[in-house]
Amino acid sequence: MHVVVAGGAGYIGSIVVRTLLREKYTVTVLDDLSHGNVWSLPKAARFVEGDIADPSAVQLAIHGEAHALMHFAAKIDVAESMRDPALYHSANVDKSLLLLSQIQMARVRYVVFSSTAAVYDPNTLQPLKEDAALEPVSVYGRTKLIVESALTELAKAGSLSYVALRYFNAAGASLEDGLGEAHPHETHLIPLTMRAVTTGSPLTIFGSDYPTPDGTCIRDYIDVRDLASAHLQALRYLERGGVSTAFNVGRGEGTSVRELLAMIEAVAGKPIPQAMGSRRQGDPSSLVADVQNIKRDLGWVARHSLQDTVESAWRWHTRSTSS
Ligand SMILES: NC(=O)c1ccc[n+]([C@@H]2O[C@H](COP(=O)([O-])OP(=O)(O)OC[C@H]3O[C@@H](n4cnc5c(N)ncnc54)[C@H](O)[C@@H]3O)[C@@H](O)[C@H]2O)c1
Repeated sequence: MHVVVAGGAGYIGSIVVRTLLREKYTVTVLDDLSHGNVWSLPKAARFVEGDIADPSAVQLAIHGEAHALMHFAAKIDVAESMRDPALYHSANVDKSLLLLSQIQMARVRYVVFSSTAAVYDPNTLQPLKEDAALEPVSVYGRTKLIVESALTELAKAGSLSYVALRYFNAAGASLEDGLGEAHPHETHLIPLTMRAVTTGSPLTIFGSDYPTPDGTCIRDYIDVRDLASAHLQALRYLERGGVSTAFNVGRGEGTSVRELLAMIEAVAGKPIPQAMGSRRQGDPSSLVADVQNIKRDLGWVARHSLQDTVESAWRWHTRSTSS
């Protein structure tokens, strides 16, 4: 069975590609390498270098027939989305719609879409259930919600079935695959903290006046290896005839920035040089997942503790910077 992985040269997609190959799927990666790494592509996957908005690249990736699309390709920087909303609507919405029209024409039956916790209104009761109010505070979150709505409409029209996985904060590395978080322009806390420890240049903590116990933002960090298994289980769910829907993917536990930094300091055995900065636009104070639905319907549970995730990220980061 052939799966097209759009954005499969990126952090999460490249680890999902390995998971699919281990499960004997045939995989084609479609990626324009705008934010991905060519070295992360395995020989066992076909690779089409191209834009998801380019019909000929999409058709080349589908290669006559594909069973499923996994759609990771997007711009992912929340702060940038606030500065340049048109860019994010074009990259994440317009291009996704072009991709979906192509896969609909090719009769690809199943779609697993990378959505985000940023679709929720963060002012509602936490942990967030899938039926909580959807009111993104960032343009990035809004673009993901629009694609979810388009998928809902395509599914109602009978064109396809989909699962939108609303990831909370992806973190950690797959040491087995030699893959970890290596965004060319990094905005995520764990890799930035590790870079601060190894280079000595201070990490900026964005906001210490949030209404949380220690004043810093609370997030739900989900191990990228658990995220990869959630994709596999979502695909299997669709293959069994599961109804189209969205699932949260998190550990169901919140950790503040200060708590996370203390854990990283303990793992690294070194202090983190740090500076206080002001809040970043588009950052809610707290995002924690309710994961009952994905447990019940997919049988998925997070297997890695946060300690394990941080250790994998540290080992991967220090290995890649020392090589
Ligand atoms: N990293 C997280 O914590 C997180 C959280 C929630 C949701 N997500 C979503 O998960 C997905 C993957 O995230 P990631 O951290 O792996 O990002 P990433 O930037 O590492 O991967 C995205 C990949 O998509 C490719 N791409 C982007 N636009 C493209 C286009 N128009 N055509 C072809 N390829 C294109 C990039 O080159 C890159 O390889 C994204 O959709 C992101 O919004 C990530």
